[in-house]
Amino acid sequence: MEIIHISAECYPVAKAGGLGDVVGALPKYQCKAGHDAKVVMPLYKTKFLTTAAWEVDYKADAYLGNQYFAYTVLKEKNNTLGFPLYLIEIPGLTNREKIYGYADDTERFLAFQIALLDWMSQWQHIPDIIHCHDHHTGLIPFMMQYCYRYAKLSSIRSIFTIHNAQYQGWMGWNKLHYLPHFDEWKTGLLEWQHSINPLACAIKCAWKVTTVSNTYMGELRYQSNGLESLFEYEKGKCLGILNGIDNEVWNPLTDTYLENHFDVKTVGKGKKKNKELICNQFNLDITKPLFVFIGRLVGEKAADVLPDAIKTALYYMPNQANYLILGTGEAHVEWQFEQMMAAYPGQYNAVIGYKEALSHLLYAGADFLLMPSRVEPCGLNQMYAMRYGTVPMVRNTGGLADTVVDMGDSNGFGIKFNHASINDITYSIGRAIEVFHNSDQLNSMRKTMMQIDHSWEQTVSDYTSVYQSF
Ligand code: ADP
Ligand code: GLC
Repeated sequence: MEIIHISAECYPVAKAGGLGDVVGALPKYQCKAGHDAKVVMPLYKTKFLTTAAWEVDYKADAYLGNQYFAYTVLKEKNNTLGFPLYLIEIPGLTNREKIYGYADDTERFLAFQIALLDWMSQWQHIPDIIHCHDHHTGLIPFMMQYCYRYAKLSSIRSIFTIHNAQYQGWMGWNKLHYLPHFDEWKTGLLEWQHSINPLACAIKCAWKVTTVSNTYMGELRYQSNGLESLFEYEKGKCLGILNGIDNEVWNPLTDTYLENHFDVKTVGKGKKKNKELICNQFNLDITKPLFVFIGRLVGEKAADVLPDAIKTALYYMPNQANYLILGTGEAHVEWQFEQMMAAYPGQYNAVIGYKEALSHLLYAGADFLLMPSRVEPCGLNQMYAMRYGTVPMVRNTGGLADTVVDMGDSNGFGIKFNHASINDITYSIGRAIEVFHNSDQLNSMRKTMMQIDHSWEQTVSDYTSVYQSF
């Protein structure tokens, strides 16, 4: 099958979070399974652009409302990622350093979607599946079906995967004129709660809708930032498919970011060497358990609760553990984490920034990974942690609920709690410190979790069944 993935992120080209990891891996494993999967994304000024070789595939111009813009489609020459990769450059709009966070993000991603459909309308053939990811690509299923100029694409089956329903891409009706002419009877499909809502529009217009875990799919019907009744109404075409992890990138035996490799047989020694590097670099104590948090410092991840939870743990259990934070996000949370550095030297440290290499070292060297997320559609961190023998400590929600078994249950290897609260987190830290001193139990938990199979093969076959079901 020819599958076109359309996304704002794709690792290693551009990644802000798990969406990048997924779109960098799923097509690769689909190609390995015999499909012809491709990725199309906007061109940003990232390092990958200078390290790969490119050829111009297509050049044309299009309109965002009455604004003319030129675009160029570049193809990566050598398929270094394991699948054909296309970048659409729209000078002045896409080619910036960051992926998101600009005042004109609406225009940037809308122009990208229009350029993509314009380009595809020129193809000599039509692909089997258009697979869109998150709200930045949410108007594609609508435009393919109802914009007159894309009539040629209207029979292509579209599937929309929700990686995060918190962000919906809302825009005012004053931006309606940006869309190419369409059947105006269909305007209602763009609307949710009085604005144009690309995520809601995709849920209505895509042939199938998936999200990245079963539990999250169920949660969306009760808590989805205003879309609850839409998920209830459309439940017949919605389903959850758990993400995989790329075992070629995330393998403690071969990880190119690590100096000290290990596998399930050598996990104890291997983790110790990595922990030593971390403790030396961040002034922490190797004899004590190391708790890390890696991620976006935002409300969804409950990062705002962590400073007080860690302070409380340090107060009631002083000098019993080390804590290390790696993340970027909301300024007030970053500030709190930074303030704590002077107060707890030798027990706590933080790196405010996005550091891919350091994240690998932390998965490898830490004893425990904290993930108190309020919302977690799938979560990849806990799966990476498991593969590297690091005990996941997670709130019982979304994909965390589906992938972690509490150490108190049969074959359990993790620590689960119900609330993103200081009490639940500190209580769980207490449980973790206890298990850290029981090396037999800790070793057996590490061995169990490292052998769990989260490879992409199963996920690829689940997506294939969905593609074939409509
Ligand atoms: P989300 O996509 O919601 O941020 P996921 O758990 O799906 O959460 O994926 C997060 C990905 O981003 C993981 O690969 C994680 O290691 C990475 N990551 C997040 N923050 C950082 C950071 N500050 N430095 C390095 N990697 C990070
Ligand atoms: C989103 C979610 C995260 C998920 C990732 C990849 O960013 O927040 O839970 O793992 O997408 O699907």
